[in-house]
This record gives sequence, structure tokens and C-alpha cells, in this order.
Amino acid sequence: MDKMLRVAVIGVSLEGIGNSHSRSVIANKNTELAYICEVNEEWAKDRSALYGAPYCTDYHDLLDKDDIDIAIVCVPDHLHAQVVSDFLHAGKHVLCEKPLALTSEDCQRMLDADRETEAKLMIGQVCRKTPVFVKAKQIVDEGVIGDLVYIESEYSHNYSTMPIHWRNSYEYPRHGFTGGACHSVDLLRWFAGNPTEVFAYGNHKLLGPEYGPCDDTMCAMMRFPNDVVGRVFVSIGCMSPGTGIRTLLYGTKGTIIMAANNPHLTLYLGQLDFEKRETVLGNGHLYNNGIQIPVALGSHNTAAELEEFVDIILNDKPVTVTCREGADTVAVCVAAIESSQTGKPVQIEYCK
Ligand SMILES: NC(=O)c1ccc[n+]([C@@H]2O[C@H](COP(=O)([O-])OP(=O)(O)OC[C@H]3O[C@@H](n4cnc5c(N)ncnc54)[C@H](O)[C@@H]3O)[C@@H](O)[C@H]2O)c1
Repeated sequence: MDKMLRVAVIGVSLEGIGNSHSRSVIANKNTELAYICEVNEEWAKDRSALYGAPYCTDYHDLLDKDDIDIAIVCVPDHLHAQVVSDFLHAGKHVLCEKPLALTSEDCQRMLDADRETEAKLMIGQVCRKTPVFVKAKQIVDEGVIGDLVYIESEYSHNYSTMPIHWRNSYEYPRHGFTGGACHSVDLLRWFAGNPTEVFAYGNHKLLGPEYGPCDDTMCAMMRFPNDVVGRVFVSIGCMSPGTGIRTLLYGTKGTIIMAANNPHLTLYLGQLDFEKRETVLGNGHLYNNGIQIPVALGSHNTAAELEEFVDIILNDKPVTVTCREGADTVAVCVAAIESSQTGKPVQIEYCK
């Protein structure tokens, strides 16, 4: 019989990402939904009935329970550091939603907790499980588009369609660049490594003051290793086609244009190595000078994320999307915001 890991999901609103995680836990053959923890008791009861798992409203009640192996942390960003550190110190493996945290101090705290404990911590930078980006990574790693030259990615959303809540807090300002564009930053880091310097411009023309103090639009230029130039754009108030995380990768031999809400990745090449046709193209075909490669949709692939984490735990493998990865992504975001506020380029300081 398959080994079962018992999972608690922390932070399950009626529409939030905790629902996607809960469904993934129920669907995974190696996991069982042991508890739901949600501070809003009405929502906790509702989700408990829906998913058939007991609920609690205070996560501290779960820390010393022997029948929990994994905590999936889906609480607001500014609470990640405390909740994650508590579960790690209680000996539970943790899958923490992105962004790791909103500040470098919180990131350092989580890196320390990760080092001090035996439990495994993985960060839910879910674009690394989005089929179109996984395909692009394979193409880039096979050298098909040559050396990267210029890369860009965008996160566009319209938060005015969402209820006012923690995302709009003045007490814990959550800049859309860290909150949302961390997806784009993480993707570019995944393809090109850690940028060294960033220069950003922002403005605040779309959302009213009730949506929080931060700029709602920002554009950041970055210098990556190997002389790669990059750009990340965020808007959390524009008329947006949705969070497709439209991403472009220009290389010395080819270009990839893609988005998570498009069922095709488009590859432009001078000439394709004959032996790479099979692995790269699959059943793709030539179209408008580009090659369209079909990809599955699914930008919130929590199921694949959980499957990987379960494999890492059951087979004692190293974590892939580590706390370090999450912290490095946040470091870039923090530096970009600082640059937009000071009007100067910022050298990116990564946590120790
Ligand atoms: N991977 C993605 O693409 C993605 C998408 C959406 C959200 N997120 C991230 O997931 C997290 C949750 O976002 P959301 O949109 O689901 O928010 P949400 O507000 O819908 O849900 C968060 C829930 O946590 C609850 N909560 C707050 N403090 C708690 C505590 N101490 N214990 C238990 N429950 C608590 C809140 O009551 C709320 O119901 C955030 O970090 C967010 O950035 C990631």
C-alpha cells in the first residue's frame, strides 16, 4: 500500500489558493487531508464540510499533533515567516505559498529556521510547475535558442475586482511587485540566475487609496549573469487579460514567446537541429514563421507541486524550490521597489 502523508492546510478562505491545495491533497494518492485551519470560523466550518476534514481556528493547536506530516501554508504573505517557522520547529514538513515573505528580515528568519530544523521546506513558486514554462526550460536547457540575450516577464492583474483585505494593508504594505511579480522574477531567475543590479520606475494611477499605499504599476530592468539583460513589468490595476505571466526569452539562436493562458508556446528559430525536432517539437507545427508547440494550460498547478514535495519527503530527496530560492526572489523584488523609490539603480543584496 502507498505510504500516506497527513496534511494540514493553513488558511482556507472561500475562494483562495488554500482550496486548490486542499483539492490537490485529496487527489494525491500519497496524501490525506488531516486538518483545515482557518481563523474565520464560518469559513473553516464551510470548508471542513466541503472537504470532509476536521477544522481548527488556531494553527498552534496543530503544532504538537503526531498525526500531521506536512503543513501547507496559505495565510497572508506577512504571516508566512511566523507560521512556517513554528511548523518547522514543530518537526513538520512545510510547503509555503509564494512569496516567501515581504521583507528581507522575514526571509532571513525563515532561512535560519530552515537551517536549524530537519524538516523540509519547499516554496510554492508554482510557475516552475506550469506546463508552458516547464517546456520552455527544457528548450532553453537543450541549447535550442542558444545563449540568452534578453528576457522579460509580466504579471498583470486587476485587484479592483477583488475584495479589500490584507493585500491592501497600510500596516503590512504588500507591493504588487513582491506579491504578484515574484512569479515573473522567479521565472527569470530560473532561466538566467540571480540578477546583480536592478533599476525600476513605478507609478500609482490605477487604484484608489483604499487598495493600499504602494505603486500599482512598476517596470524593472535587471542585469543577469553572462551579460543577460532582463525586464519585469507588474500592474495590479490594469485592464488585464489575466495572470498569464506573458514571458519572452530572446537567445542568440532563437526566441520563445509564451503565456500560461495560451495553449501554445511559440518558438522562432533560424534553423532547428534535425536531431532536436522530436524532443522539442512534439506534435507542434510551423505557423507564421514560428513553431507552435501545444502545451497544457494550468498556471496554478498545485497538484504537480504537491506530487513533487511528496516524492522529496518519501524518498528523502533534496528540495528543489528551496527557501533560498524563495528568499533570492524576494531579494530582487525588495531591491526593485527600493530603486523605484530612490530613482537610483540598486545592487541586489541576497540573504546570508
Ligand atoms: N501560487 C499562486 O499563484 C497564488 C495565488 C493566490 C495566492 N497565493 C498566495 O497564497 C497565500 C494566500 O492567498 P489567498 O489569495 O488564498 O488569500 P485569502 O485571503 O483568500 O486566504 C488566506 C486565508 O488565511 C486566513 N488566515 C489568516 N491568518 C491565519 C492564521 N493565523 N491561521 C489560519 N488562517 C489564517 C484568512 O482568514 C484567509 O481566509 C498568499 O501568500 C498569496 O500570496 C499564491
